[in-house]
Amino acid sequence: MKQSFTILLFILLLTNCKKQPEIGLITEKAIVVSARKEASKIGADILKKGGNAFDAMVATELALAVAFPYAGNIGGGGFMVYRKNNGEIGALDYREKAPLAATKDMYLDSLGNVIPDKSTLGAMAVGIPGTVAGVFATHQKFGTLPMKEIIQPVIDLAKKGVVVTQKQEKRLIKHTPGFRKANSKKILLDNNWKKGDTIKYISLAETLTRIQQNGRDEFYKGETAKTLAKFMQENGGIITEEDLATYEAKWRTPIVFTYDDLKIISMSPPSSGGICLAQIMNAIEPYDLAAYGHNSTKSIQVITEAERRAYADRSHFLGDPDFVNIPKETLISKTYSSSRMESFSFDKATSSNTISHGSITFSESNETTHYSIVDQFGNAVSVTTTINAAFGSKLYCSELGFFLNNEMDDFSSKPGTPNMFGLVGAEANKIEPKKRMLSSMTPTIIEKNGNLFMVVGTPGGSTIITSVLQTILNVHEYNMGMQEAVNQPRFHHQWLPDDIKMEPNGFSENIKNELKALGYILDETNSPVIGKVDAILVLPDGRLEAGADHRGDDTAVGF
Ligand code: DON
Repeated sequence: MKQSFTILLFILLLTNCKKQPEIGLITEKAIVVSARKEASKIGADILKKGGNAFDAMVATELALAVAFPYAGNIGGGGFMVYRKNNGEIGALDYREKAPLAATKDMYLDSLGNVIPDKSTLGAMAVGIPGTVAGVFATHQKFGTLPMKEIIQPVIDLAKKGVVVTQKQEKRLIKHTPGFRKANSKKILLDNNWKKGDTIKYISLAETLTRIQQNGRDEFYKGETAKTLAKFMQENGGIITEEDLATYEAKWRTPIVFTYDDLKIISMSPPSSGGICLAQIMNAIEPYDLAAYGHNSTKSIQVITEAERRAYADRSHFLGDPDFVNIPKETLISKTYSSSRMESFSFDKATSSNTISHGSITFSESNETTHYSIVDQFGNAVSVTTTINAAFGSKLYCSELGFFLNNEMDDFSSKPGTPNMFGLVGAEANKIEPKKRMLSSMTPTIIEKNGNLFMVVGTPGGSTIITSVLQTILNVHEYNMGMQEAVNQPRFHHQWLPDDIKMEPNGFSENIKNELKALGYILDETNSPVIGKVDAILVLPDGRLEAGADHRGDDTAVGF
């Protein structure tokens, strides 16, 4: 009797030890989930005050510029996809632009070779920032609270300072050599900051105060614009006052497509995100991923092969739609994707050498952070914003208190030569004055049965599209909750280089061996983190569940 009781106890213990899936923050009405708790809280407080998701977007975006200078910014740009509670959808493009003096070959030496670091480090790497234009455009169209009221808590945070986290300390140490290389003068990070220290952002508070007082034009035509243009020239850059004065954010029509019973609304060019996501999801839709199993060999194969083909098209067809003709309707059609998958077989990996872009006749007129918001009125906002690499160009304007982006590296400096994400580009994404560089940012909103279902997005350069994809599939195909879906190990293929990047320790030896036997090359070293997803799921009972990615300091706040 005693022995059987012990065995029972042991079995019970074992069952309980089986890891229960983690559940994210659940709220009744509203959530803001972003890379830092401070920013999520400022956004959620704006909602509590009666502001809507767009007011919270402005607050969260600017708060990230203070609390998360690694990627949050006023020296960069981004994209917003929104869905209002009446079902109306839209997108805002506040992506950086190439300066007027930019030229196609500006990063090449006299022999036509790419000059190392020139498109990534220092003033020559900087595109004209769009973030301030983005928040003002959002507020002008949809805001309800006064801008002054929205910006005030951000200014207060900058003055009070932000506590350095363990992860932040590591990032600062890692990038110090870059800061020194990019900056001729004093830098923000001279102080050897450690976990637990508080960094006060006084110059940034002053810049934000001027923007609060004088509005959008302060950044593009006012004292800030003059200081910034002078700073760029002094550091060997080409951005002028005219570049700043002529910058405009642009409202765009999002990419919309279906996957089973989901309607997916994602970012249109100049991001490749929506089109690539549509291509991949269209290509995999006919396959029974649920039956193959989550992260099984067969699922990984189908997804990888769809990704390979979509990224080959990305490289050829996509660029700024204001400059190049994109065969959008064909690319996102189900028939096109299924024709691209005709060469796929479960027996053997396709080689990227044998895959080029699809043949389409043109009959139709190309370090980041993401946050997701659902407000108490049912409006949803999905925003990915970036200065490209960690701390952007590493160039820090101490007078104004912020880092400048290195977004120019997202252009194709030379056809066929990979950029910092290993992406190769072609003619469609060549550098031209006033053009926007192609992006992978994929802020996305999903409807199910006509209702809001999910808000999702992530940083991660070229891995953004595939991380968003896997998060959606984890919920839709594998019935996971939001946090559980975000926690899953991820993999990524982008046509070139021809390998599957995998998060280390996320995949069994068995699956890896099977994939290798089929001819896939695996890379578990280069990208230890693939994506850092912040998402919100509407639960069947109408409550919201957040997924805040533990790969960073990401946190959800709501009520
Ligand atoms: O727009 C893009 O695709 C890139 N500039 C994004 C950079 C990024 O996600 C870096 N973060 N990990």
